[in-house]
Amino acid sequence: TRTQVAIVGAGPAGLLLSHLLHRSGIESVVIDIRTHEEIATTIRAGILEPGSVRMLVDSGVSDRVLTEGDRHDGVVLRFDGDNHRIDFRELVGESVWLYPQTDVFIDLADRRKTDGGDVRYGVRDTAVSIDPPVVTFTEADGRPTRLAADLIVGADGSRSNCRHAFPDGLRTEWFREYPFAWFGFLAEAPQSHPELIYARSEHGFALVSQRTSTMQRMYFQCAPTERPEDWDDERIWAEMRKRVNGNGFTLQEGPISGKTVLPFRSFVTAPMRHGRLLLAGDAAHTVPPTGAKGLNLALADVRVLHEVIDEYFAGGSDESLRRYTDRALDRVWKAQHFSYWATTLLHSIDGASPFDLERQRGELAMLTESRRGAAYFAEGYTGSWGPS
Ligand code: DHB
Repeated sequence: TRTQVAIVGAGPAGLLLSHLLHRSGIESVVIDIRTHEEIATTIRAGILEPGSVRMLVDSGVSDRVLTEGDRHDGVVLRFDGDNHRIDFRELVGESVWLYPQTDVFIDLADRRKTDGGDVRYGVRDTAVSIDPPVVTFTEADGRPTRLAADLIVGADGSRSNCRHAFPDGLRTEWFREYPFAWFGFLAEAPQSHPELIYARSEHGFALVSQRTSTMQRMYFQCAPTERPEDWDDERIWAEMRKRVNGNGFTLQEGPISGKTVLPFRSFVTAPMRHGRLLLAGDAAHTVPPTGAKGLNLALADVRVLHEVIDEYFAGGSDESLRRYTDRALDRVWKAQHFSYWATTLLHSIDGASPFDLERQRGELAMLTESRRGAAYFAEGYTGSWGPS
């Protein structure tokens, strides 16, 4: 078989690209080693930047994000036992939407299906070669398939196969590890607060997020070696209470499910394109989860990628492909900075000196007391950095 664009990875980045290309009259085939069910039920982040929402709505994927998502006009930074609200709408005229990544996936998968898109879940043995661009794999029903394409897009996540198809020595990698992780869980309980709470405490960071009126998503900073099975409900709530409750604020508690330990890493690889292979999303970069930039950054890559691929097929030259890396990296490094900064702003670092701790409180005070400080945070959180 032959297609114009072979897309490896049917997460939000791969599917949105396939959808946008379809609207430009460019055909693609999307494959994923995971089943539709696996992707739809793996809990991921829940916050969409306004630019991500506009892309989904304006390109006709679905307006379910507007009807069923929740607009959040600000967040709370909690420290020293008090809530400090950052008002995005007032400071930068933008809002974010609470709308889980699993719903973004379902909307995109449904839209591709309705439009007759070729998306193959549950494939095996994927292999990618660049010159000429060919993807081989075993279909879910066991048939071996050879898919030749004009372009290959690797949207296959942080353990990307496609990234490793670049010739040796061609890529530069930037990498940072953190000495902690997040323990994430779902709680069957009412909302504790109308907006998200990012809490710094002497016992470590905690995040109070949401899913529905009866289901909440929360995280707390933990050691990377923690195992979910060692934490029963009471132990988890005791940890959350220590970090968040106080001064009249009390978390709404309930039965816990969906326990996971999330790794913390910052990673960038460049170039994001070699020949006719282009990377998007986590295949090219990973951010730590503080600030929920990962999905948004992947969708921002896709916005640029759609444009360069459109130009490529319109003009037939490599010129637009050549500009992809620089255009995408501009936003990537801004988001890397924001995710790193929001992380170091709020987490406890083992071995921090008394000076380090007081300095961190000073930084939080500046952010919440200075209008310009708050606006800087709001710009970063909403991703309002101007055109990418
Ligand atoms: C969620 C995750 C994040 O990393 C974040 O910064 C905010 C919200 C979430 O899963 O809801």
